[in-house]
Amino acid sequence: MKVTAVLLAAGQGTRMKSNLPKMLHAVAGKPMIWHSLQAISQSTTEKPIVVVGYGADEVTKYLGDSAQTVLQEPQLGTGHAVMQAESALKGKTDLVVVCYGDMPLLRGETLQKLVETQKNNTGPISLLTVVADDPRGFGRIIRKPDGTVEAIVEEYVATPEQLKVRELNVGGYCFDANWLWDALHRIPKNPRKGEYYLTDTVELATKDGVPVQATLMDDVEETIGINTRVHLTEVETAMRRRINEGHMLNGVTMIDPASTYIEASVKIGKDTVVMPNTYLHGKTEIGEGNVIGPNSIIRDTKIGNFCKVLASVTEGAVLDDYVDMGPFARLRKGAHLGNHVHMGNFGEVKDSHLFEGVKMGHFSYIGNAQIGANTNIGAGTITCNYDGEKKHPTEIGEDVFIGSDTMLVAPLKIGAGARTGAGAVVTKNVAEDTLVVGVPARAIRKLERKAKK
Ligand code: UD1
Ligand code: MG
Repeated sequence: MKVTAVLLAAGQGTRMKSNLPKMLHAVAGKPMIWHSLQAISQSTTEKPIVVVGYGADEVTKYLGDSAQTVLQEPQLGTGHAVMQAESALKGKTDLVVVCYGDMPLLRGETLQKLVETQKNNTGPISLLTVVADDPRGFGRIIRKPDGTVEAIVEEYVATPEQLKVRELNVGGYCFDANWLWDALHRIPKNPRKGEYYLTDTVELATKDGVPVQATLMDDVEETIGINTRVHLTEVETAMRRRINEGHMLNGVTMIDPASTYIEASVKIGKDTVVMPNTYLHGKTEIGEGNVIGPNSIIRDTKIGNFCKVLASVTEGAVLDDYVDMGPFARLRKGAHLGNHVHMGNFGEVKDSHLFEGVKMGHFSYIGNAQIGANTNIGAGTITCNYDGEKKHPTEIGEDVFIGSDTMLVAPLKIGAGARTGAGAVVTKNVAEDTLVVGVPARAIRKLERKAKK
């Protein structure tokens, strides 16, 4: 059975007071519409249709291949919005799921239940409802004595008796497609607002004498819609709690989830501890048994197992296993720290590979460099990789000892087992097992390398 979603996203979102279309405001690091599309993909079989209007170009550009868009212009209500999908969908789907793009907490499982309800319904509509103390302006659900739904009454037209109803229309529907396309054309124009309300399809079904079923949700939180920035933060907090609980249930320890900010796309292995005030962004993947934070910002970074990242910032980096980093270290794009690398305070690494066991304890900048295994980078070492026009590479072999405050003027190669004296300015390649000192540094004698332990 073909199930296709129509996601309504054409409204302006005036109350956001923003230049950005409402649908693109981020929740847990992803535009709110992304969350809706995730839920939709769990409950439908076909590519979704997104109805766009306000900010259509920006929203369409963001969606790319993930959805087909149809334009609603002008915006004449939720019923009119669904009508815009008719030509794209007529005859191509059995069921149509309709939901609103500003409810990112709605779960895929909930939409699945809704679809199941409709599959067992002899009538043409099933819809999501919730019972809540605070009606928040939602439409009221009027039930028939047999338990099926008779009508949805919008707040501003409800009688005092109807206003007391606490079962609310959430804004998630599943329709029999054949019935829907015809019914949309039968929706009367609302006399007050001149709009066509999708919710009026319920009364049409009642008139047709066919049943409308409801799926009663138990988690009110899922139904929070975003109309203002206050709602946006409310949803952000709820989404953060949900994401963090997911990780905790998968074996991640969090000392203080309320101050742990993890985007929806991040993966974390078991027995990793995420300490407070830590931000995990983007395509970050973290393995098992690590301690991340406190006070760390990790973006698009792959971290292996058993690493420590204390009060540090990383972006576009890779850490293998047993890396010990921070406090106050920074990895930029293309930084790769091998197994057992130690990177202490106030260091920066960019576009460089530090092989197994490299130590850079203090105050160094390493850029466009390869550093061989077990090499020691003394305090204050700088790869002078930029001549004002171009970046140049530095290659350092294994078991090298770079003395404190060495300036490595690239392009430069330093052979395995070499040493530089403190404060050396190295402008020429250094042969293996050679000690260089001075400014600029000259070779002074041949060394004997200790056998590896
Ligand atoms: C709607 C429901 C109400 C329900 C509430 C839940 C109707 C008539 N009422 O009211 O019963 O309790 O949601 O939040 O449906 N949109 C379009 N094109 C339009 C109009 C709206 O795409 O022409 C989109 C909006 O971008 C939004 C969604 O549809 O994502 C809902 O529209 P909105 O105006 O917020 O409806 P409500 O008044 O909240
Ligand atoms: Mg609304």
